[in-house]
Amino acid sequence: MGIDLRQDGAVATITVNNPERSNAMSKALLAELHGVIREVAKDKSVRAVILTGAGKRAFVAGADIREMSELTRDESQAFDRLAHAVASGIESLPVPVIAAVNGYALGGGSELALAADFRFASTTAVFAQPEVTLGIPPGWGGTQRLVRAVGEARAAELIFTGRRVLADEALRIGLVNEVFEPEELMPASQKMAVMIAANSGAAVRLSKRLIALSRNGNQVAALAEEARAFADTFETHDQVEGMRAFLEKREPAFAHD
Ligand code: COA
Repeated sequence: MGIDLRQDGAVATITVNNPERSNAMSKALLAELHGVIREVAKDKSVRAVILTGAGKRAFVAGADIREMSELTRDESQAFDRLAHAVASGIESLPVPVIAAVNGYALGGGSELALAADFRFASTTAVFAQPEVTLGIPPGWGGTQRLVRAVGEARAAELIFTGRRVLADEALRIGLVNEVFEPEELMPASQKMAVMIAANSGAAVRLSKRLIALSRNGNQVAALAEEARAFADTFETHDQVEGMRAFLEKREPAFAHD
């Protein structure tokens, strides 16, 4: 049981590994995930991240309800602060994060997947925000990130009912980008991560930061920042090399710094 971190070239894979309990997140597991995310954030050799769950049944079946059921009000605040730090840590990793959703992504599990830049799912994926069935609202960012992913009306319906969303519906409503047969999910996620990692790391990181500005609701300021960032890349190694390689009809040799 724990959080596994594996690196293959420039791609780091973070696996929540507690399959006997459907990868449900205890406080200890959340704290470990937090530590792993901070480690990955500092590692300059990582240019793309895959987040997944161990086993065939679950991505993450949410917060550990047994543990959560015994929390006092004060303890629940500390628990939720940690969960928010984990979700925000995933969201603000400097490099792209793909959630490979291999089964149940319930409650906090769905919310962790929503903190990734985008989601791939297996045909067995099941999403839900069932918190209201437990007497609580979503608390790991779902009220904001699910709204952004599928729109307010759909998010409201899913949060108010707690109903399950299977892979085909998840694809239809834009909760996931693509659906794969279970055995194809990790190879496809790896392939996508490698494709991302082959590009200019600096340009990809910058693009991620600029996309994040769209959440602030100030397009004028965000476009000004985009223009500044665009100009800042000129005369850098990757800009000169990327364009020269295109003109010379060869693969670019990016600095990956
Ligand atoms: N918290 C605590 N324990 C959990 C859990 C969770 N979120 N999700 C699964 N488990 C435990 C089960 O209690 C069971 O433990 P047990 O063997 O000691 O009884 C074990 O994991 C296996 O789960 P089980 O329910 O037997 O498997 P299943 O395939 O029938 O169902 C789920 C899997 C995920 C659909 C079901 O366990 C479930 O609905 N879990 C709760 C999901 C939820 O509401 N999450 C949101 C929390 S905010």
